[in-house]
Amino acid sequence: MDGAAAVVLMLSAMAVLLFGVESQQRVCYSGPPPEPDPDNPEHWMKQVMREIRKRCPGRRQPTPAVTEKPCTTADSTDPEWRLVFKGVAGTGVELYDMWTTMDWNSSYEASCHRRNNSLYQAWRNGQLNVRRVKLSLYEGAIVRAELIFNGAGSDIRSWFTQTRLISSPWDDLKSAPFTGRIGQIFSIDGDVVRGRRFYINNYYGSCEVDKGWLAVNGFRTTCPWQTPTAAHPYPNILYSTTNQKVTWNDVRSNALLKKLVCENYPFSIACDVGTIDVEWALYGREDGTIDCQINAAVPCGDPTTSLTTVQAACQGKPQCAFIPSNTFFGGDPCPILGKYLVVHYLCSSANVH
Ligand SMILES: *[C@@H]1O[C@H](CO)[C@@H](O)[C@H](O)[C@H]1NC(C)=O
Ligand SMILES: *[C@@H]1O[C@H](CO)[C@@H](O)[C@H](O)[C@H]1NC(C)=O
Repeated sequence: MDGAAAVVLMLSAMAVLLFGVESQQRVCYSGPPPEPDPDNPEHWMKQVMREIRKRCPGRRQPTPAVTEKPCTTADSTDPEWRLVFKGVAGTGVELYDMWTTMDWNSSYEASCHRRNNSLYQAWRNGQLNVRRVKLSLYEGAIVRAELIFNGAGSDIRSWFTQTRLISSPWDDLKSAPFTGRIGQIFSIDGDVVRGRRFYINNYYGSCEVDKGWLAVNGFRTTCPWQTPTAAHPYPNILYSTTNQKVTWNDVRSNALLKKLVCENYPFSIACDVGTIDVEWALYGREDGTIDCQINAAVPCGDPTTSLTTVQAACQGKPQCAFIPSNTFFGGDPCPILGKYLVVHYLCSSANVH
């Protein structure tokens, strides 16, 4: 297995972690990869592939047809790289555990996870001469982000470091300080206590201000931005879709957002990332609140019809706006009382599942 390079692909909407190895004959793509096009970062891999085809005429097999099915999509990787591991988000199995376990359980494959055990064990035992490791983050069939590491002399954990990083979508990662200060983490083990693996993080303050580039959140969580919900079971994979680190809370993975406006005032919500997923709504009053200048601790309104109405206006959209009124909600659920609309929603993004 001389001269092999490994790939890690993490699919996101169906988040997948793929590792592959490249054959030693791969001599025709020795130069640096093309610069990512900042306007079109997700197409970078296509540019790379175009470059490979240009430099290796006739060598490359036709690309297998991409299908909608996440299992096949993620498996149809480039022949220049060998799949070692693929991990899918939201399946209730820790990606870290699947990556580190000695005994791969093929029952994982029902959820589209993959591990090539012969490559994995060889790598683990230092018998796989890995040249490069590629970690790709997928959203469905689309590569959203890709990291390439120098894999020479690495083992299954040690390839994932800043010093081995060759390229990433994030301009500020290569020079970011990882000096051991709290919150500066770049490792597969990550932050065990907080349940964050495959973790590239820059800063800890509070949950609201933590910043980083990549996190695979498992069952154990300590911040709302990690928390699994019924709609988004663990593990969830968060990463910056910009060209630099993000405040995790802004990714708004599974963080429930809340908006309240008084009746007849404009209501609007928007997601910077992803689309609106309305979880709960009430046009009326919650128990014991003093919102909208009214002290009445009298609950009223119907969450079911409120939710239906708000979902009709907002569900699945990047933004929505309307005036919450008796007309809009088809009647007055609490005559005399001043009402408001309160909506709990998620920004549900394909990079967070
Ligand atoms: C594999 O996983 C299944 C389902 O979790 C479990 O029932 C089975 O015992 C496991 N097999 C091994 C060999 O660990
Ligand atoms: C694992 O990778 C090797 C080398 O690419 C390949 O020959 C083998 O078929 C793969 N095994 C599985 C189960 O995919």
